[in-house]
Amino acid sequence: MVSTSLWMDTEILPEAAELKGDAHCDVAVVGSGIAGLSTAYELSKRGQSVIVIDRKGIARGMTARTSAHLAPLCDDLMTEFKKLRGAEIAKLFYESQAAAVDRIEEIQASEKIACDFMRLDGYLFQGNGMPADIIDQELEAVQEVGAPVHRLVGVPLKGCEERHVLRYPRQAKIHPLKYLAGIAAVCETNGVRFFANSPVEEVAERDGGVALRTSHGQITAGHAVIATNASIADRFQLHSKVAPYRTYVVAFAIARGELPDGLYWDTEDPYHYVRLQAGPDDHDFVLVGGEDHKSGEADDADQRFARLESWARELIPAVGSVTHRWSGQVLDTIDYAGFIGREPGSERIYLAMGDSGQGLTHGVMGAVLNSSLILGGDHPWRSVYAPDRKPLAAARNFLRENMTILQNLAEYVAPGEIASVEELKLGEGAILRRGLEKIAAYRDKAGELHLHSASCTHIGCHLHWNSFETCWDCPCHGSIFAPNGQPINAPAVSALRPVQR
Ligand SMILES: Cc1cc2nc3c(=O)[nH]c(=O)nc-3n(C[C@H](O)[C@H](O)[C@H](O)COP(=O)(O)OP(=O)(O)OC[C@H]3O[C@@H](n4cnc5c(N)ncnc54)[C@H](O)[C@@H]3O)c2cc1C
Ligand code: FES
Repeated sequence: MVSTSLWMDTEILPEAAELKGDAHCDVAVVGSGIAGLSTAYELSKRGQSVIVIDRKGIARGMTARTSAHLAPLCDDLMTEFKKLRGAEIAKLFYESQAAAVDRIEEIQASEKIACDFMRLDGYLFQGNGMPADIIDQELEAVQEVGAPVHRLVGVPLKGCEERHVLRYPRQAKIHPLKYLAGIAAVCETNGVRFFANSPVEEVAERDGGVALRTSHGQITAGHAVIATNASIADRFQLHSKVAPYRTYVVAFAIARGELPDGLYWDTEDPYHYVRLQAGPDDHDFVLVGGEDHKSGEADDADQRFARLESWARELIPAVGSVTHRWSGQVLDTIDYAGFIGREPGSERIYLAMGDSGQGLTHGVMGAVLNSSLILGGDHPWRSVYAPDRKPLAAARNFLRENMTILQNLAEYVAPGEIASVEELKLGEGAILRRGLEKIAAYRDKAGELHLHSASCTHIGCHLHWNSFETCWDCPCHGSIFAPNGQPINAPAVSALRPVQR
């Protein structure tokens, strides 16, 4: 089964053209996921002229691969957040994330966007064999930030009747691409111009503004917001505080009414989660996700899907056949909050990156925050997400995540995974050594070979093949490359160097 999410068949502005020639606006937004489109929405509502530009079609990035819980509490637990950032910032973090859920609710209602938005309760339940004191500690941390919470025993999942649970009232869920389709339509009405299939290759402050260069044109703007998931503006500094994790989702058909609607997730690491999505006729979809690993550090998606499926069938015996399987990438920051606000050292470039698995609420909240900063105001949430913050208490996480780079660079001296391209079957990719060089080799389904340098064009880490998604993953900062060498996920902006056979 190929990787397809439940949302991907939603069309969003399919007619957006490529940028050719020059264009000018007040604010240029690079990236058309939830972060970019929400920014365009907020700014165009305030009378700014806005251009949104994307390397692919509109909203074809990680937002098309989400599972779309709208959960305002830190998914790495508020207990952990408070340890790293203190009680005051933890409270502001919760308030800002809750405000993002309120903002989505308000926008879909006022703009009449049919996007299946629904308020419902979230349930954090004790993982299998895990101590209950995690629940007690989390209860205390959540009460301290002022979020509504109730302690219970049992969730309606088989074998979990005695597990300790926290219930969070009024969390929410949404169909992410129906929401973005609605936002994009409002933006168009507000005069926002969209360019698709136009990779931005360079962003620079120039002549009291910002210039953004693509291979066929240039945008000049008063300000730019880089909403490319991982920033293409920052070369290294912020990327060293963010680690990419690949995460997996399986959707099953289920007869309506078999599972009480709610958002369920456990305290395991990585955690499992469950949500329902309305389906056609008399059945719904159950989404079950988890099995995360650091990007590029495993290529065993089938086993991970099998484990998710057996977990789901044990806890929810009513699930039917598997309808969709997909994976995506989340960017965990070392202190669990994104980097949103003015790019360090810059006057006019703003960022929205690092979602820690809560990228939808980060995207919407970040749009409010960046818009307010661009329009000259300050904002009470600025310090929570400031890209130039120094999270000293997170030094251990910083060292752990950056070990990946050292281990990765050591791979350049290791042997190749195959001795010759003749070993590659149709549709297979692997690393080949030729002298001192490491080559990313892929043989497509028609038998044609695609050979590129295995060195990521961001800052040179060694790529790994992802056979489920048919792409090259960079374990260091989240770049992803298609078999033809083109980057499909930032921070890389350049294609892999082709290598002769
Ligand atoms: C499986 C999964 C489950 C998740 N579950 C949840 C959840 O339940 N709740 C939650 O809040 N979050 C969740 N997340 C995280 C969330 O979905 C993402 O963090 C969020 O959608 C990212 O939005 P974005 O706008 O930052 O990035 P994207 O949607 O990736 O958009 C970035 C855009 O930038 C474009 N771009 C990149 N480089 C360039 C360039 N050089 N030039 C032009 N354009 C460029 C890309 O093409 C892309 O369209 C999940 C993620 C995954 C993968
Ligand atoms: S993403 Fe930074 S080196 Fe590859």
